[in-house]
Amino acid sequence: MSTALRVAIMTDETGWHTGRLKKAFRARDVDARCVDLAQCRIDTTWAPYGLAIPGFGHALPDAVFVRGIAGGTFEQVMFRLGILHALRECGVPVYNDARAIERSVDKSMTSFLLNLHGVPTPATWASESAAFAQRVLMREAAANRRVVLKPLFGSQGKGLRRLGASRRDGSLAPLPSLRATGQVAYLQRYVETERPGFDWRVLVIGGRAVAAMRRVGGKGWIHNFAQGATCEPAPLDPVLADIAVQATRALGLDYAGVDLIPSPPASSNGDGDGDGEKHPLVLEVNGVAAWRGLQSVTDLDLAAALANDLLDRKLAAHAPVPLKTGDAFG
Ligand SMILES: Nc1ncnc2c1ncn2[C@@H]1O[C@H](COP(=O)(O)OP(=O)(O)O)[C@@H](O)[C@H]1O
Ligand SMILES: [Mg+2]
Repeated sequence: MSTALRVAIMTDETGWHTGRLKKAFRARDVDARCVDLAQCRIDTTWAPYGLAIPGFGHALPDAVFVRGIAGGTFEQVMFRLGILHALRECGVPVYNDARAIERSVDKSMTSFLLNLHGVPTPATWASESAAFAQRVLMREAAANRRVVLKPLFGSQGKGLRRLGASRRDGSLAPLPSLRATGQVAYLQRYVETERPGFDWRVLVIGGRAVAAMRRVGGKGWIHNFAQGATCEPAPLDPVLADIAVQATRALGLDYAGVDLIPSPPASSNGDGDGDGEKHPLVLEVNGVAAWRGLQSVTDLDLAAALANDLLDRKLAAHAPVPLKTGDAFG
């Protein structure tokens, strides 16, 4: 019988990322296979764990790499996250852990934790009250600032609205209906940048920033790769790297794609020293981060760095949870 470690790559689509990951695991003699979370089952008659992972019979993988959690109904998404929680409860190292993924998927929880841990991030408000959100908007506009309304669970730069006084007549448009954002207002102070604007994406793996890029252009002020931004290599400035690592730690993530933006000059936020590039603010932290854009501007094999961190740090530090029912596979 083969004694190779077996890793499940959780994903609903196979492609470039899963190909790179499988290759990286193969290079370490690890058998990695893709599993769709939607195909996993909780089955209390399925001994010994009550958890059925396709391709693993009654056993479980030695570790799980979470590459993608497909969208769906509230029930479907909760169920898929539940499978990841269940794997952890069975003693399987899950990279990233479901609890940390949940914190990073919810932008309001991300903002809360960043602020709580003293990680520099723009002022942010989240509320179910449209009246509160309207007051925030008016107060910010009175101070000549704009805000960004974001979907709580958004990604790839979709559904973002920039609100505030229009440049032409100075009038303030009312807050749009919160229906489009699921009746929750997540408002973040807009960080004014020079044209053409850019932001940074830093990949943090195992407590270390390993690569950075600038995302330039895109859709107006939205610099996501998915919105057509161009990726340029960026040096791993120690301040940038340190803040990205702090942000990843604040959310308890093993690895993360951290989005940062240069803070505005002193005149517009009152606490900078004008050297915006030295004072990055964290916009969001991605716990299920893609790395294709970043890979195009770095020589480091990012899939290998991720696989190695999972095997050499996460799995190595891991003590298996003994089964009360005895070793069913011995
Ligand atoms: N507060 C902000 N100030 C300036 N630009 C922002 C702000 N928030 C978002 N952006 C721009 O929009 C992009 C997408 O926002 P982000 O919060 O990362 O959401 P998503 O999950 O959709 O990527 C950012 O990468 C940045 O270019
Ligand atoms: Mg982003």
